[in-house]
Amino acid sequence: MSTLINSETPISTTPLAGSSIAFSELVERLNSQTSPPTLEQLNLWLSSVEILDADLEPYIGFKEGNYWRHRVCRNEAAEMLVICWRPGQQTPIHDHNGSHGVVRVHQGLMQETIFAFDVDKGLCHDTGRECALGTVTGAEVPDIHQLGNPETSGQDLITIHVYAPPLGVLKTYKLGSSQVDLYTPNDFPT
Ligand SMILES: [Fe+2]
Repeated sequence: MSTLINSETPISTTPLAGSSIAFSELVERLNSQTSPPTLEQLNLWLSSVEILDADLEPYIGFKEGNYWRHRVCRNEAAEMLVICWRPGQQTPIHDHNGSHGVVRVHQGLMQETIFAFDVDKGLCHDTGRECALGTVTGAEVPDIHQLGNPETSGQDLITIHVYAPPLGVLKTYKLGSSQVDLYTPNDFPT
């Protein structure tokens, strides 16, 4: 299952005074890691970072064909991405093949669907939910999920992702099938 932080009351994009760090400090912190931070650390850091539109300006850009991944930083321990989604754009169904990850919704509405893999039945739908602006949500290593900007949202979506260790070869899945494919993301998936 995914670990949802503040599921009832999504955090503000501006954390409480005294508890926040600047976006640049988070990037420095990630760049200084020599081993992958824990899921709990990533949750805490992404929950307590104050992110201004100006911080993300270098990483904002949309494509009509697919969502667009913009890398902020990457080393052997962790990576950070900003992902820009037009309405209707979504990832394939995938897992993170040994990495854990945390996502924060900076602008718009993110749809997350969680799947369960059954050896006999293949891939089954498990749960789905919408994550409002400010939501911070983490994915444990075994999670199989799909993220996207709902077709009906009527607005662009901007999300911030931290993975530890950085994503390598991912597994992708098909609903109702036990077929598993391998994929190396470059511009896809998240
Ligand atoms: Fe993912």
